[in-house]
Parts: sequence; C-alpha cells; structure tokens
Amino acid sequence: MRSAGFQSIEIVPTALHPLVYAESLNAPGKPTILFYGHYDVQPAEPLHLWTTPAFEPTVRNGNIYARGTADDKGQVHIHLKALQALHQIGGEFPINIKILIEGEEEVGSVSLWNFVQKNKEKLKADALVVSDTSMLGKGVPSITYGLRGLNYYQIELTGPRRDLHSGVYGGAVPNPLAALAELFAKLHDKNFRVTVPGFYDNVKQLSKAERKALNALPWSRKTFQEAVGAPGYCGEKGFTTVEQLWIRPTLELNGLWGGYQGEGAKTVIPSRAYAKFSTRLVPGQDPQRIAKLVEKHVRKLLPKTVTCKFEVLSTGKPWSAPYHAPIFQRAQAALQKGFNQKAVFIREGGSIPFVTQMYDTFEVPCVLIGFGLPDENAHAPDEHLYLENYFSGIKAIAHFYQDLATL
Ligand code: BES
Ligand code: MN
Ligand code: MN
Repeated sequence: MRSAGFQSIEIVPTALHPLVYAESLNAPGKPTILFYGHYDVQPAEPLHLWTTPAFEPTVRNGNIYARGTADDKGQVHIHLKALQALHQIGGEFPINIKILIEGEEEVGSVSLWNFVQKNKEKLKADALVVSDTSMLGKGVPSITYGLRGLNYYQIELTGPRRDLHSGVYGGAVPNPLAALAELFAKLHDKNFRVTVPGFYDNVKQLSKAERKALNALPWSRKTFQEAVGAPGYCGEKGFTTVEQLWIRPTLELNGLWGGYQGEGAKTVIPSRAYAKFSTRLVPGQDPQRIAKLVEKHVRKLLPKTVTCKFEVLSTGKPWSAPYHAPIFQRAQAALQKGFNQKAVFIREGGSIPFVTQMYDTFEVPCVLIGFGLPDENAHAPDEHLYLENYFSGIKAIAHFYQDLATL
C-alpha cells in the first residue's frame, strides 16, 4: 500500500486478526470508493497434494500457484497494482479511496463487523468495490450481483458414556456413528430437496426474465464437469445447474468423524460421533430462523439412544441487489477495456459476509468484480490464479478507478 502511494495506513488490532486500513482522500469533489478484500486463507492442508509448496508462489503454465492467489490475496493485489500505476502517472489517485483488508473472512468476519459498527463515518463511501468472486469462465469478465448466505453447524452425538468393546457390547447398545449416518441420509429426499420443514417457505421466486437471463449466460457445462470430475451429477429437481448453484438453498455435509480412524482394525463402539455441516441461503431466507428449523428437525430425527449437542458456528445473510446505478456501466466498460470482451452480470453461490453487512448498513452500490476462475482450486490444493486475468484485471481496474473520477 505504501509503494502504491498511500500515506495513511493503519493496522487495526482486533480480538482475533488485525484489519488493514488505508485511505487517500485528496480528490475533492470526486467519488469515494471503499475497496474490500481479505488476507486470510483457508487451511492449505492436505499439504502433500500440492505440486509446489502452498506458501511459495510458483509460476507454471500461465498460472501463479499458492494458497490465496485466487482467494483473495491475488485479487487484492490487482487493485493495489492498478492504484500504484494511476498514482505514478498522475502523482495522486484520481478518486478518493479507502481500502479495508480483513483477516477473518473465512471464519465469518466477526471482528470486521464490530469495526464497521464503530466506524460508520470513517467507512462511508459512494460505492463498495470487491474482487473476491469468480468470472463465469475464461474470457468472460463478470460482475456478480447476488451471493448466497451461509449458516455453519456442528453437532456432537453421545451414546455410551465411553468407548466400548464391540464384541462384548455390540448388538445391545446404540452406536452414535450409525445414528449420525442415518440422520444425514434423511436430510435430503429423492429429488434432492432438503427435508427440513419450512426450509423453502420464504425463498423468493425469481422473475421469469431473470431466470431466463441467468440461463442464457455463456456458462459451460463441460468446464463445470471437468472441474468437478465426478462420475455422475445430482441436484434439486426442477432447476437447472446454474439455478441450483446460485439461487437455490442447500444443505451440505462438510465433515463427519468419530470412532477409530487409525491404521488397521480396532473393534470399538465409539462413545461420540461428530459432524460439521452447513446451509447456503438465498434471498427470503432468514439465517436465524433457518438455524432454528434445522436444529428442531435434527433433534426430531435423532433416536432417543443418543444425546445431541447442537452448535451454530456462524450465520450469514444472502445478498442480491439491482445493478442499474451508473457505476455498474462504468465497471462493464472498464472490463471491456481490460479484457476486450463484454462483461456479463451473474450471481454466485459463495458467500461474503461483509458485502451483506455493508449493503444493509450503507445501502450503497456493491460492485463485485471477480478475477478468479471457478476451477482455480480455491480452498483446495494447487490453488492458482490465471496470470492473463491478473494482468487484464489490473488494466481493467486502472480504467475503472480513472473513469470513476467523472462519475
Ligand atoms: N471468496 C469466497 C466467496 C466466493 C467464492 C464468492 C466464489 C463467490 C464465488 C470467500 O472467501 C469464501 O470462501 N467465503 C466462504 C464463507 C465464509 C463465511 C466462510 C464460503 O463461501 O464458503
Ligand atoms: Mn474470498
Ligand atoms: Mn474463501
């Protein structure tokens, strides 16, 4: 940030990871942009699946590989390089700019939320700009106007007071792992719908026009399936894949454990079984209400032979917003200049808690310009960023900020 031309830079301590904040307000009469990104990353494990070490950025086949290249440090870097170029050319930034980089996005942005509450005046801006999403595909620059929300849960089932010899006791005692397997088998029906009563109650229906527009995007099934690499595909009946990914709520099992997991055999009936799971939420669904419904249903489905500790680790609202403010056309024009391609408006299935927080707090346009690609292994081994998008991104963002001076 310093080398990009910022003089006012703060590292703000929080209860967990510090925030980084910089601002330059030397363009009187020009718009003020708040740019947001995150420097925290998902765990790089399992490390042995990385071709080159997770924290040693390596360039290979036109990509840069390392944890955080796509999500989100590489994308933040695009903005800093664009701003640096503008500062070098003009001796100053063309607009007023505030930069906020947090370190807890991947765990729910709790410290950031406290900071926003206490610093509303400081963070005030005409628009929020974020690059923490994806492009629809290679050569398709994209502006995202909708994200799903996320609730994350963890449960602990307890059967016998302690682990038991499965020969001595097996056959006459409950096994919490079996109860857990049975529970998760019941949370979807044969049409892949979530069985929690009331789960879909308030889901907002999309207009025919919007559904049509989303399904007409140049989305590639082939690229999607190549990225996933599963032997077969499934999803909620009655909806296209794009709809299943972007506008339908889901319940996903994220981790399941308990019992013996070491090498060889151990004949044991575990005392406890655990699961981590989550729900993606769409407009109309209230995270608190959904959390209650999910807990109620889980408790109802479980047999009396186990007790259940149910924890809600985090909740987060979905977001979607109209994109007719003039800044969206400016973003589209800037992307055209950077990529020589028309930018499309898309929704996405991932979640960024801060976007919802900002939108609800300030009601400003939120311009989400993603430079990642869906198959760049965010959250997985061999995460990478396509260098062509990195460089085209810098060009586009430089045009964008320059052009906003006349907004
Ligand atoms: N950058 C992602 C969100 C994202 C990815 C949005 C792809 C759109 C397309 C973000 O870092 C992320 O991973 N968010 C988490 C939520 C968080 C509360 C743990 C997610 O979506 O799982
Ligand atoms: Mn991210
Ligand atoms: Mn992420």
